[in-house]
Amino acid sequence: MKAAVCTKYGLPDVLKIEDTPKPIPKKNQISIKVHAGSVTASDCIIRGFKVTGIYRVLMRLAIGFNRPRKSILGMVFAGEVESIGQDVSDFHMGDRVFGFDRFGFGSDAEYKCISTDGVVTKLAPNITYEEAASIPFGGLMALHYIRKSGVNKGQKILIYGASGAIGTAAVQLAKYMGADVTGVCSTSNKKLVKSLGADHVIDYTKENFMDSGILYDVVLNAVGKKKIELHPKHALKQKGKHITVDDGAPRLSVKDLFFLNDLMEKGDMKAVIDRCYPLENIADAHRYVDGGHKKGNVILVIA
Ligand SMILES: NC(=O)c1ccc[n+]([C@@H]2O[C@H](COP(=O)([O-])OP(=O)(O)OC[C@H]3O[C@@H](n4cnc5c(N)ncnc54)[C@H](OP(=O)(O)O)[C@@H]3O)[C@@H](O)[C@H]2O)c1
Repeated sequence: MKAAVCTKYGLPDVLKIEDTPKPIPKKNQISIKVHAGSVTASDCIIRGFKVTGIYRVLMRLAIGFNRPRKSILGMVFAGEVESIGQDVSDFHMGDRVFGFDRFGFGSDAEYKCISTDGVVTKLAPNITYEEAASIPFGGLMALHYIRKSGVNKGQKILIYGASGAIGTAAVQLAKYMGADVTGVCSTSNKKLVKSLGADHVIDYTKENFMDSGILYDVVLNAVGKKKIELHPKHALKQKGKHITVDDGAPRLSVKDLFFLNDLMEKGDMKAVIDRCYPLENIADAHRYVDGGHKKGNVILVIA
């Protein structure tokens, strides 16, 4: 099968399209014909070995010394079940599925296998594969951090980095939960953030939200503290919370994926797709994501 192989850690050109053996599902696994994937911030961190301090040692031990031991990257997938292991009963050939295989990788390929107890679920019929691939990374991360923030109906949340993969999902989820949402983004993304339901939009190139005098119950830094350190103490109410999306590695669950699928099916959450690239151009997709200014999600289309 055709796959993008990560030949070593480095710039996007380390990704090469190669012919590789098609994976065979184990007893408890399904094999998926992947139709769409996504290039996420996490994929770029791994490919580019973008970690510091002790994490450099830990990543070499956990993922591979000079290159990923599992050389086909890609965590997000959407596609069709092509074959099943002998113990599998809850999925069938032809099922449309999507999911997130955080440390299994392997989605940047025509086929990938995943255990049925992993983060994989059936896809609602009215969602395309490309739309589905825009959901697991940003959606699951955002859901984790929004829940961690404890934001409730009527409370004020400010989402800094509201136009990224996590930010666009966070705006929609916070709105769904009944919060009063302020999104912060650059000028060209104001319209997008407003269209996702934000009650207020602040252009960070023109205004500092900390100077407005408005106090929030939650400030969510969806850009990440490695890129931008926020010190929103004076913009928080008493007992207000400041949450950052690179605090810890959230546990992602299939139950949450099912919840997001349901929201999408009912039209309560929409896919935000910036660009689509064919698998062959995966290096270009990584280069674009490395820039740190994508709008929502970058999708890989795999024929
Ligand atoms: N916890 C975890 O396991 C985990 C895993 C992966 C990633 N992360 C973190 O999540 C972060 C966000 O991921 P993502 O996929 O949502 O990223 P993304 O799609 O690339 O979005 C980045 C966002 O940051 C904004 N931005 C960039 N530079 C900015 C600046 N100087 N000031 C204000 N806003 C700025 C961009 O908006 P504009 O284009 O409008 O500037 C964009 O909305 C990553 O950077 C990483 O720190 C955490």
